[in-house]
Amino acid sequence: MSFNGYKDLIVEGESVILYLTINQFYILEAKTTTLSKKGVVVQNIFQTPYGSLACGDLIGKKYGTKIQLKKGWAYILQPTPEFWTELLPHRTQIIYTPDISMILLCLELKPTSIVIESGTGSGSLSHAIIRKIKPSGHLYTFDFHETRVDIARNEFKEHGLSQYVTVQTRDVCTDGFGKDLEGKADSVFLDLPQPWLAATFTSQVFKRGGGRLCSFSPCVEQVQKMCSALTNLGYQEIQTMEVLQSQFAIQKKKMSILNLDMLKTSNNKETVKNEKEFSNFITSVAPNTLPGHTGYLTLLLFHQHM
Ligand SMILES: C[S@@+](CC[C@H](N)C(=O)[O-])C[C@H]1O[C@@H](n2cnc3c(N)ncnc32)[C@H](O)[C@@H]1O
Repeated sequence: MSFNGYKDLIVEGESVILYLTINQFYILEAKTTTLSKKGVVVQNIFQTPYGSLACGDLIGKKYGTKIQLKKGWAYILQPTPEFWTELLPHRTQIIYTPDISMILLCLELKPTSIVIESGTGSGSLSHAIIRKIKPSGHLYTFDFHETRVDIARNEFKEHGLSQYVTVQTRDVCTDGFGKDLEGKADSVFLDLPQPWLAATFTSQVFKRGGGRLCSFSPCVEQVQKMCSALTNLGYQEIQTMEVLQSQFAIQKKKMSILNLDMLKTSNNKETVKNEKEFSNFITSVAPNTLPGHTGYLTLLLFHQHM
């Protein structure tokens, strides 16, 4: 897989994004054969709305290449955390790219950061964190659901990311983050039903000097409990925000041209609009509604006095 850095050519076995349109993209494996549901070795054929593709034909092709399908064409692209968030198999609710971008920004992640995350869930956020902190940083991610932990660990391995991430089964609300991580973390991220229980353990894990904490919660009642718990723990400058993505549409518009020369000589506004003269232009249009709420991000900067 090429999640771990950019590559030029597709190597056998790598996962590749097949990009048809902005709403139609898929992840597939560049392998000549695959196992059928019955466990029989068969040719690896991927069906798209524009025709089928023999996945083995991708091996050796350059990433970014436009390939011909029977009824259209597609691009073959490198997988990224953004594509993965859209395509991953859901085991849980996940965090999406607009929230992820704000989380990465607010946690001030960089290629040396040591980050603690819980729960791992479907690994959507984890992939974006890993890209931001590698090659010298490390992600420690915890989930109390053993199967989810195993699947996430396998995915990280398949994606060539194992050296940047440690996945552990642990109930962080009762057991905290473990002795080994005390004084090690630059940032902590929580996506848990009861983050206030885990918050009790956060001050122990930050490096001397402090760190950043961010918690994602869908409900405002969870935010209230979390903020109260953080205040009781002595944290200050707690902020909560909501990320709403506003997607502009591009539209063609037609408007009659206002004749300013006639405006000087006429009091009748209608006569100054020359009905035969129109201007055609392309413009952006703000959406009438905003997409639905995902969750609230509660953030704080933890200072530790030396
Ligand atoms: C909403 S999911 C996290 C999704 C993840 N942020 C993503 O983007 O894919 C919440 C996860 O927290 C885990 N969880 C809930 N309570 C926990 C606890 N006390 N300790 C560890 N994990 C917990 C659940 O098993 C679940 O997988």
